[in-house]
Amino acid sequence: SWTTGNVIEEQVAAIRAQVGSKRAICGLSGGVDSAVAAALVQKAIGSQLTCVYVDHGLMRKGETEQVEKDFVAATGANLVVVDAQERFLDALAGVSDPETKRKIIGREFIRVFEQAQLEILQEEGPEVAFLVQGTLYPDIVESGGGTGTANIKSHHNVGGLPDDIEFELVEPLRQLFKDEVRMVGQELGLPEEIVQRQPFPGPGLGIRIVGEVTKERLDLLREADAIAREELTAAGLDREIWQCPVVLLADVRSVGVQGDGRTYGHPIVLRPVSSEDAMTADWSRLPYEVLAKISTRITNEVADVNRVVLDVTSKPPGTIEWE
Ligand code: XMP
Repeated sequence: SWTTGNVIEEQVAAIRAQVGSKRAICGLSGGVDSAVAAALVQKAIGSQLTCVYVDHGLMRKGETEQVEKDFVAATGANLVVVDAQERFLDALAGVSDPETKRKIIGREFIRVFEQAQLEILQEEGPEVAFLVQGTLYPDIVESGGGTGTANIKSHHNVGGLPDDIEFELVEPLRQLFKDEVRMVGQELGLPEEIVQRQPFPGPGLGIRIVGEVTKERLDLLREADAIAREELTAAGLDREIWQCPVVLLADVRSVGVQGDGRTYGHPIVLRPVSSEDAMTADWSRLPYEVLAKISTRITNEVADVNRVVLDVTSKPPGTIEWE
């Protein structure tokens, strides 16, 4: 019969058999899947696993700390954190086009991750032959079957390493659905904030700032987003909504009045949606009191924001994210 205990036991045995005495690496994104995959592999092979987390500075408030502190505390995993915030900000400077932003973030991410991999490969110890991925059953079905190996092309050929490093994949979640992954994560002792996390895009807050991405704008959006999340959680709505992007219209300004003066600030958009699989979505009919609370708090607590608006568009025609 299916129990999380059985799944964990089976996968731990399978991972040990697959990896043997070699080493493995795993990229953590802050999301549920990579965290649970890493925790399972950690349970199986302990210090033969090294996790890599690229801090691109586009995460929401507290999320990097959840990986750096809580994930490590819960699993005891070896974690390499690469602080690449400056690098991402530099690469994104002056860029407003959504697709260009996505390409830049994706490209920089791969470069930073590969650089970290190369450094791990050069450490003393058994061969690093495995790459852990949090692939789920629906991912495999959608892409028409798994591959088995990953070819990492190196842009930074350090110290005479081969140009192409081939890893065998370890995918301990490939038979599981999302809700099962959450149960396994819980059983493995991962923090609630990671296990119950709603979907969040890889490019992070970079695609929730309509306009150029700057440090100031990221900090402002992080504050607004933290308030919205806090109030949605306090209202007990986390399970009801699929996710709620909070978007900063950085290229738009609107007139307001606050205290005894006129302001000329930016609008924040709330985009709460309900969905089964993100392919289609409807806007969530949130209680007015909750919306009112979020709006009052954001305009009071976040400098430069003088307006909060609600996105009432379904998908289609609107996508869930604004960019
Ligand atoms: P859209 O905006 O296309 O989003 O309706 C559908 C779902 O995908 C998430 N999303 C992403 N996830 N990398 C990701 O890992 C991305 O580049 C990305 N873009 C959108 C979005 O948050 C929603 O859950």
